[in-house]
Amino acid sequence: MNSSISAVSLQNNALTNLALGISVSPRKLGNSDFAAEYFMQFFNQKQKHMDFLALRSFPVKACVSCGRCDQKNNLPCILDRSKPVETLESEKNILAFENRANYLADSEDNANFLFDKLFSVPALLICSPIYFYHVPALFKSLIDRSQYWWNRKLQGHERFATLPPKRLAYLILIAARPQGLRLFEGALVSLKYFLDIFNFELQTPLLLKGLDAKNALKNNPEALANIKQYAEFGAEQFSLETLL
Ligand SMILES: Cc1cc2nc3c(=O)[nH]c(=O)nc-3n(C[C@H](O)[C@H](O)[C@H](O)COP(=O)(O)O)c2cc1C
Repeated sequence: MNSSISAVSLQNNALTNLALGISVSPRKLGNSDFAAEYFMQFFNQKQKHMDFLALRSFPVKACVSCGRCDQKNNLPCILDRSKPVETLESEKNILAFENRANYLADSEDNANFLFDKLFSVPALLICSPIYFYHVPALFKSLIDRSQYWWNRKLQGHERFATLPPKRLAYLILIAARPQGLRLFEGALVSLKYFLDIFNFELQTPLLLKGLDAKNALKNNPEALANIKQYAEFGAEQFSLETLL
C-alpha cells in the first residue's frame, strides 16, 4: 500500500479520476488498513479507480473554537498557516491565539490538504475502528476542523458552487465488542453530517463486530466475504453513478 500521496493543493474542485480509500486508524497494518486494502482489491478489479491514504500520516491540529468561521467576513481559520492571521481585539483572550506560535509549531497540520481531497475525489471509502463508541481522535480532529467548511457552506462560499450535488461515500466500521446495539451509533451520526458538508451521501455502512487483534480481520473469512461483496456492490454503483 502506498500512503505517500503528494500534497497537491487544488484551488478549484475539478474532480480527480481517483476515488479515495482512507484508513483512519492510528494502528499501522491493523484491521482498518486491511479492510481498505481488501475493499480496494475488489473495487479496483472493476474500476481501477481507488487510491489509499492513511490519515495517521497526515496529522491535523484540533479545533480551538476561535469562532472565526462563524463570522461572515471570510476570515481564515486561526490554524490555517497558509494565510496571514491578524489578531482581532475579540481574540485577545483566546488561549490558543495567545499561544498560537507554540500550538502550531509542535506538529504539522494537513487539514487543507485533506479538505482538498474531500472536495476533489469522485467517491470515498472510510475505514475506521471504534474508539469509545466513536472514531479515533485523529479522525475526530479532522471532523471538528470541518466546522470551518460547514459554516462556509451556509454562507454560500464559492467552493460549493462547483461541487457536484452528490457523491458516494462507503464506510466500514470495526469494533472489538462482539455485540452492542449502540456500538456504532455515535460514529454513524457524526459521519453522516461530516460527509454531508462535502455533498457525500453515506451509503449503507458495513459494520463489523468482534474484531480486536491486529490480524483479526485477515483471519475472519466471513468478514472478508462481506467486504468483498460491499466492494463489488460499490464498484457497480460507482460505475452507474459516473455514467449519469
Ligand atoms: C482507545 C481504544 C478504544 C477502543 N474502544 C472500543 C469500543 O468502545 N468498543 C469496541 O468494541 N472496541 C473498542 N476498541 C477496540 C478497537 O475498535 C479494535 O481493536 C479494532 O479492531 C481496532 O482496529 P484497527 O486495527 O484498525 O486499529 C478500542 C481500542 C482502543 C485502542
